[in-house]
Amino acid sequence: MSSVGILGGTGPAGQGVAIRLASAGYDVVLGSRDANRAVTVAAELAPRGAGTVTGADNEGAAQCDLVVVATPWDSAVATVSALKNVLDGKIVISMVNALTREGRELVPLYPPRGSMAAQIAHALPSATVVGAFHHLPASEMVNLDSELDADVVIFGDDAEARESVAHLVEAMPGLHAVVAGTMSLASAIEAFTAVCISINIRHKAHSYVKLAGLSH
Ligand SMILES: NC(=O)c1ccc[n+]([C@@H]2O[C@H](COP(=O)([O-])OP(=O)(O)OC[C@H]3O[C@@H](n4cnc5c(N)ncnc54)[C@H](OP(=O)(O)O)[C@@H]3O)[C@@H](O)[C@H]2O)c1
Repeated sequence: MSSVGILGGTGPAGQGVAIRLASAGYDVVLGSRDANRAVTVAAELAPRGAGTVTGADNEGAAQCDLVVVATPWDSAVATVSALKNVLDGKIVISMVNALTREGRELVPLYPPRGSMAAQIAHALPSATVVGAFHHLPASEMVNLDSELDADVVIFGDDAEARESVAHLVEAMPGLHAVVAGTMSLASAIEAFTAVCISINIRHKAHSYVKLAGLSH
């Protein structure tokens, strides 16, 4: 697997994942509803490594070997559903968090199937959905000069797909893969993002998850 497409890749989250994937040697396609916007955003990213970042529409991004969903939560299902035929048979990573802001806090929303990863899996029955990247602040991801040393919590029901995503994450500078388990953990993992962001708002920080006691 050498190419990774990112649906909604023009946002801060998609850009942060893209620059670190390209720095790890992957060829990344930022997807957008507007291919021209994706081309412009991709041209502004400067990965340090053998990989590339280019831009396309979301369908172009979906044609890559592996695909990341990085749209807002309330457009994720519609976006992947429109690309179902292209995504069939692929590993699809969801980094989508369903959150809403209440004052100085983010609070989790619970979709009917409990998590956005489960919603996306339901919309893509012939793809293999894996959750990853939920807790990473985009500002740190996009800045390759940051001291980022974060754990990426990975979950999904297909063990082989989880390991493929863990392999990808381990190659990305500043990130370590931590496989947590199955899709049954999705709602807790996604909801914890609300805690992470609320801490960052309260403490005016860009903190991230780093689990103690694991040997990498
Ligand atoms: N920001 C973070 O630090 C962070 C970290 C971890 C996970 N996440 C998750 O990653 C996802 C993206 O976060 P973000 O901050 O990058 O979000 P964002 O900037 O609001 O959206 C990302 C992209 O999605 C596309 N988009 C917006 N509205 C859309 C719609 N109605 N239909 C289809 N596409 C639409 C836009 O691209 P085009 O206009 O080019 O199509 C936009 O650039 C979210 O689910 C978030 O919870 C974010």
